[in-house]
Amino acid sequence: MGSPERGGGERDSGRLAHSFSQLCTPRRSLRGIRNANFPTLGEKYGSHGEEEDKEDDKVDVAENSLLNKLIRKSLVESSHHVEVLQRDPSSPLFSVKTFEELRLKTELLQGIYAMGFNRPSKIQETALPMMLADPPQNLIAQSQSGTGKTAAFVLAMLSRVNGAEKFPQCLCLAPTYELALQTGHVVEKMGKLCVNISVTYAVRGNRIPRGTKIEEQIVIGTPGTVLDWCFKLRLLDVKKISVFVLDEADVMIDTQGFLDQSIRIQRTLPQNCQMLLFSATFEDAVLRFAEQIIPDPNIIKLRREEMTLTNIRQYYFLCENKQDKYKALCNIYGSITVGQAIIFCQTRRNAKWLSLELTKDGHKVSVLSGELTVEQRAAVIQRFRDGKEKVLVTTNVCARGIDVKQVTIVVNFKLPINQLQCPDFETYLHRIGRAGRFGKKSLAFNMVERHNLPLLHRIEEHFKTKIKQLDPNDMDEIEKIEY
Ligand SMILES: Nc1ncnc2c1ncn2[C@@H]1O[C@H](COP(=O)(O)OP(=O)(O)OP(=O)(O)O)[C@@H](O)[C@H]1O
Ligand SMILES: [Mg+2]
Repeated sequence: MGSPERGGGERDSGRLAHSFSQLCTPRRSLRGIRNANFPTLGEKYGSHGEEEDKEDDKVDVAENSLLNKLIRKSLVESSHHVEVLQRDPSSPLFSVKTFEELRLKTELLQGIYAMGFNRPSKIQETALPMMLADPPQNLIAQSQSGTGKTAAFVLAMLSRVNGAEKFPQCLCLAPTYELALQTGHVVEKMGKLCVNISVTYAVRGNRIPRGTKIEEQIVIGTPGTVLDWCFKLRLLDVKKISVFVLDEADVMIDTQGFLDQSIRIQRTLPQNCQMLLFSATFEDAVLRFAEQIIPDPNIIKLRREEMTLTNIRQYYFLCENKQDKYKALCNIYGSITVGQAIIFCQTRRNAKWLSLELTKDGHKVSVLSGELTVEQRAAVIQRFRDGKEKVLVTTNVCARGIDVKQVTIVVNFKLPINQLQCPDFETYLHRIGRAGRFGKKSLAFNMVERHNLPLLHRIEEHFKTKIKQLDPNDMDEIEKIEY
């Protein structure tokens, strides 16, 4: 956006940063960032010590959310209907099929088309008219990752700000530095033709002297820094905020302290401020959080596509140790034609061990685990998608969201269990559900120690499915498996 630059930022071509390092390096093109002193990738996501290998690889929700965005190729379409709960059920519910119907400013409409958006996504069809209505209405929107929530509220912020007024009017909170920057890039890209509108980032490292008057109309930041900016440094006047957005509410409530900070900010907003809250998940905790924050909201939900196990044949091998498991794996490879495979391990150490064994045996393997930076993980997934490696060995960091269509077999080198040592049904479904999508048939193999057989039976019961036993030494039997 072509505002006069105090920070000397040059005009960005509007390209969304595809690389994570781009996001983490101080860039002149990040408008509004002054004296920024950002951490390097190494400082933020430095490699972890050996001792952590003993533990299960933990999934960090914020990192996963960012990873989802980095590897996403396009909009995630849904065949479900949008469920709507209106604050005022008697008011007519509008939805739009085109962006023109929203009567946006020409430069904003052009920005949207320049991003390659031809028509509103499913959730945008309903959410946009509500967000742009007068008088403004509050909104809680829940819909899975990639369905167009961020683009929707960015559009709402850009259409509501008054470029002629040089003070913050929209405030958007995101749980982490990187997620705040991602959203900011969408603002910059969509608003690149809105010449008077600019964005600034209230994130750590962007130090602005007390008493400075922020002129950017859109402020995106993390709760702690936004609190400082509002109350300690008094860089912006909360009372003048007319649109407040809480993005990634599900990640937010998972992040220590952010809940309280967000509520403290929200409480000081003026009464007529429009409040918008977005979440990619539907947990009760998110709704409770939303209810604390958003008065009289409209609520819209777009249900996630159900995953099923119907197209997946499931088998198990009884194995006593990892050598047994490896032998079973070799016999699978020796008996059937495997396209691409994902193998799930519980720990980083096992993932490393397995990948070395497979490599020794001539397989092209890539490893995805928690010690990689988010950017490196995105690169590994891309290479695998491109078919550069045929086997992906991974820990839980890869259980969700990764859509590799050509995967035909999934192997659980260990059954997924939760902290209570019970089967983790959801993770099982997400792992196995990677394969066999879009009606394709595929295979899932579980390597199970004898003492873990009860876990396997509980999985069978839970999903009302049969997991057939195979003899790891009987190659003929494995050969008879049909895809
Ligand atoms: N109307 C549209 N037409 C085409 N592409 C779109 C549209 N809206 C959004 N997109 C694209 O779809 C992808 C996902 O959109 P967006 O990031 O807004 O989803 P999200 O629901 O916020 O996801 P997350 O929960 O991961 O933050 C992005 O690449 C975005 O550019
Ligand atoms: Mg989003």
